[in-house]
Amino acid sequence: MKNILVTGGAGFIGSAFVRHMVTTYPEYNIITFDKLTYAGNLDNLLPVKNASNHTFVQGDIADRETVHSTFEEYSVDTVVNFAAESHVDRSILDPNAFIMTDVVGVYALLEEARQLGIGRFLQVSTDEVYGDIEDGHYSLETDHFLPNSPYAASKAGGELMVRSYHITYGMDTVLTRGSNTYGPYQYPEKLIPFFITEAVDDRPLPVYGDGKQMRDWLHVEDHARGIDLVLHEGKSGEAYNVAGEDLRHNIDVVHKMLDLLEKPQSLIKYVRDREGHDRRYAMDAVKLRELGWERKHTFETGLQETIRWYLDNAWWWRKIKSGEFLEYYKRQYADRIAAAEDK
Ligand code: NAD
Ligand code: TYD
Repeated sequence: MKNILVTGGAGFIGSAFVRHMVTTYPEYNIITFDKLTYAGNLDNLLPVKNASNHTFVQGDIADRETVHSTFEEYSVDTVVNFAAESHVDRSILDPNAFIMTDVVGVYALLEEARQLGIGRFLQVSTDEVYGDIEDGHYSLETDHFLPNSPYAASKAGGELMVRSYHITYGMDTVLTRGSNTYGPYQYPEKLIPFFITEAVDDRPLPVYGDGKQMRDWLHVEDHARGIDLVLHEGKSGEAYNVAGEDLRHNIDVVHKMLDLLEKPQSLIKYVRDREGHDRRYAMDAVKLRELGWERKHTFETGLQETIRWYLDNAWWWRKIKSGEFLEYYKRQYADRIAAAEDK
C-alpha cells in the first residue's frame, strides 16, 4: 500500500479521512479524487493544501476514462471510496444522481480497479442499508439489508456490487458501515450542522414528525480512524460496522444543541415527516472493537466541540448557505415550515 486514491475526499467524512491519512502516514501518497458536487468543497482540504504527499484530481467516479487515466498516472494501488450522493432528503426529491454515483459509479471504479489489478478496495457504506431497526436490536454485519430510502437502496446496491467483485473475481475488498456522523466541515443540510447554523441566526428548526426517531451518533474523527483500521487490518471480503454506540432521540439532540447555544427552545417547529422515515438505527461495533478500535469522543464533548467549531468558522458555512443551498432549502422546507406556522 503506497498510492491511495480517496474518492469523495473533498466531502465531510472523506476530507477528515484525507487529513488523518496525510498526517499519520507521510510514507503514503494520498490522491483525492472528487467531482466537487454541491457537497464537495476544497476548503475542507485547506489544512493539507501544502502537504507534499497529497494531490487533488477533479473527476467523476462514473467516468471510466478519467478513473482509468488517474489510476495509471498515480500508480494507484489502493482505493477508498467515499464518493456518494449522501443526503436522504435529496434522494426523496430526486433519486437519479444517487443511482448514477452510488451504484453505477461504484461499478465503474470496481471494473477499472479489476482491469488494472489494483489491490485493496474499501467501500464506505452506511447503517441505513439495514433499514429500520426494532427496539432492543443492534444490527450485526451478518444481518440482512432492508433499505427504505432511495439513498439507502443505492448504497446497498453499491455494496452488493463490491461483494460480487470479491466473490466472482477474487478482488481484495473490505466494507465499512458507519452510523450518523457529526463534526467539523459537515455540509449544513444534515441535522446537526443545519440546526446549529439555523439557530445561530434565530431561524426555525424543522423537526420531522414527533422527533422521537433514534440515531446512533459517531464523531467524524472516530469514523475516519475506524476506516483506517479496516483498511489496514480488515479481513478481505468482510464488512465492519463503525458505530458510536450512543443512541439518542432526535428531539433530545435538538434540545441539547439549543441549550449549548443558549438559544430558546421555541425555535423548534414540528413539521411534516420525511416520507418513509426510519424510526431507529442501531448497530453493534464489536467486530471493529475486536480489531482494536474504540471511540475517542463522547457525544457530550464531541457536540460541544462541534458547536464551537461552527461558531468559530462561520466563514466556512456562510459561503455554502448563500449558494445552491437556498434553492434546496426552498424545495425541502418552505411548505413544511409555512404549514407548521399556520397551525
Ligand atoms: P458528503 O456528501 O459530504 O461528500 C460526498 C463527496 O463525494 C463530495 O465531496 C462530492 O463532491 C463527492 N462526489 C459525489 N459524487 C461524486 C462522483 N460521481 N464522483 C466523484 N466524487 C463525487 O458525504 P459524507 O457525509 O462525507 O459521506 C461520505 C461517505 O460516507 C458516503 O459514501 C456516505 O454514504 C457514507 N456515510 C455517511 C454518513 C454520514 O452520517 N454522513 C454515515 C455513514 C456513511
Ligand atoms: P440526517 O442528518 O438527514 O441523517 P439521516 O437521515 O441519514 O439519519 O437526519 C438525522 C435525523 O434527523 C433523521 O431522523 C431526520 C431528522 N431531521 C429532522 O428532523 N429535520 C431536519 O431538517 C433534518 C435534516 C433531519
